[in-house]
Amino acid sequence: MNETTQTVIVPASDKSTRRDFLYIATAAFGTLGAAASLVPFVSNMNPDASTLAAGSPVELDLTKVAPGQQVVVRWRSRPVFVTHRTPEAVQKLKDPALLAMLADPKSSEVQQPPYVENWHRSVKPEFGLVIGICTHLGCIPIFEPQPNPTTPAPNWPGGYFCPCHGSKYDLAGRVYQGVPAPYNLPVPPHHFLSDTMVRIGENPPNSNFEFSSIEQI
Ligand code: FES
Repeated sequence: MNETTQTVIVPASDKSTRRDFLYIATAAFGTLGAAASLVPFVSNMNPDASTLAAGSPVELDLTKVAPGQQVVVRWRSRPVFVTHRTPEAVQKLKDPALLAMLADPKSSEVQQPPYVENWHRSVKPEFGLVIGICTHLGCIPIFEPQPNPTTPAPNWPGGYFCPCHGSKYDLAGRVYQGVPAPYNLPVPPHHFLSDTMVRIGENPPNSNFEFSSIEQI
């Protein structure tokens, strides 16, 4: 895996008043060759920028995301973190020791569509999709999937770390207790067109969930 750094510029949310400015943050992404090909998708807003800004769905072929990897897709001017969880990472999401440290382990707050109100906050346990904007003041959390005794924070358990004020989230975007961020990371509407093709920004046919109903975007 190569480690690369990219600057992400995220326009303000159309809902939040606290974050009514441009966020400029540096996010580190693990990339493979296939994932690297997706980076221009973030930088150049391809397809057409106005189409994406208007909220049109974005499709992603998940065969291009290797286990343990994350790619970032831009939808509605927001970064969507798409993670391919390893079997170990999936198992960890159910670990009672982890759940005891989370503020909202059962996703009780409306931070996701109802069809992902489950222990893995996604349609398929092995794939996670969250909006990569910290629910504290809107920085871009860093993908740090591996536990580490010192980095990016002491006794790091693996997950997402927000460098601005130290908020921590697990690999399902669930926020830890005792950090500034008050809510889990939002999950965007999405559904699967096939086993490996996901459409981000659109509900499954049986759902009319409104993205704007999320408590904190
Ligand atoms: S903006 Fe993420 S911790 Fe403050």
